[in-house]
Amino acid sequence: AEPLRIALAGLGTVGAGVIRLIETNARLISARAGRDIVITAVSARDRTKDRGVDLAPYAWEDDMTALAKRDDVDVVVELVGGSDGPALALARSALDAGKALVTANKAMIAHHGIALAEMAEAKEAALKFEAAVAGGIPVVKGLREGTSANALERIYGILNGTCNYILSTMEDTGADFGEVLADAQRLGYAEADPTFDIEGIDAAHKLAILAAIGFGARIDFESVRTTGITRVKAADIAQAEALGFVIRLIAMTDVEEDANGAPQLLQRVRPCLVSKDHPLASVDGPTNAVVAEGNFSGRLLFQGAGAGDGPTASAVVADIIDIARDEVGAPFSIPVAQLVAMAPHEPGHRMERTY
Ligand code: NDP
Ligand code: HSE
Repeated sequence: AEPLRIALAGLGTVGAGVIRLIETNARLISARAGRDIVITAVSARDRTKDRGVDLAPYAWEDDMTALAKRDDVDVVVELVGGSDGPALALARSALDAGKALVTANKAMIAHHGIALAEMAEAKEAALKFEAAVAGGIPVVKGLREGTSANALERIYGILNGTCNYILSTMEDTGADFGEVLADAQRLGYAEADPTFDIEGIDAAHKLAILAAIGFGARIDFESVRTTGITRVKAADIAQAEALGFVIRLIAMTDVEEDANGAPQLLQRVRPCLVSKDHPLASVDGPTNAVVAEGNFSGRLLFQGAGAGDGPTASAVVADIIDIARDEVGAPFSIPVAQLVAMAPHEPGHRMERTY
């Protein structure tokens, strides 16, 4: 079979990880994909930067949207970041040219995922974003395919590795918030602007994507009620500990019916008390965990590395292998026209939940 030719835009933590993974596992990837997967062209901001990988075999484009126009590219892989700007321009160009698009960019999918999925459907092109939610955990695929026979009742969990790393390290060592955040940045877990992590926005992006896949809802990022971890103090962590709890940034979504039976979507991200005997309490470091409760499957727990070069590259390359096998599928599990626009649920009367 003809090789699948890919272009990489963005050669930072994740982009360099993808090159390393494709080089290291070339043989098994080609066996599983049924054909070779080859990188033909790359782009980033600074051509001269040392990225710890050899870029000499690949064509370089200064203008990343040129990647989408190349005849030797079948799949564009966007690993730049940012909801708009060059990432979105590239995504649109790729789909417009009928090329498959793989992205790890949850901000872009949370804001523009529906429009991009419409473009992909119109061109019968693949749009895949496994790495956008929970790094190396195959939770997008898990919800889209593994729970497809279920009505999901609730999805919740830990969706931001940086916050979890900060909270669990503060808990273990008593270290200062700023110090631990700097470590998370150095280790490649944090977003280019870490405010997205610590204010809960990154978790909200991911939650909005999971709600769309799990409940067949049109993405509604603007309605996610979001509180980050910036006001969590060492004293709060110590007090929670004394009461038998840990503090975790929990993202939660479910669907409730209004008085007329219309579905309403609850989406919320905030620091929560988690009982020490709950499975989420032992989730430490940059690990993520997602619980999905299906009406026949019961409670499923997906857990693993939520950030970092290797785990994220693993999810990106899994998407590329699916494309090599012609497994295109609907990005949000059902065609975009069938996604339901649900009003946001206002949980005013509800008891505050601990886990
Ligand atoms: P990095 O900041 O490490 O890398 C971003 C890359 O994009 C760099 O190579 C940079 O070029 C390039 N870039 C940025 N802006 C521009 C621009 N205006 N024009 C051209 N190139 C540009 O980010 P990550 O690798 O960490 O993240 C990439 C994507 O993956 C983001 O969407 C992120 O949210 C997502 N993600 C990240 C995870 C992680 O653990 N890091 C996990 C899951 C998803 P240069 O190197 O030359 O500066
Ligand atoms: N900044 C993100 C996190 C990267 O810390 O979870 C993974 O999406």
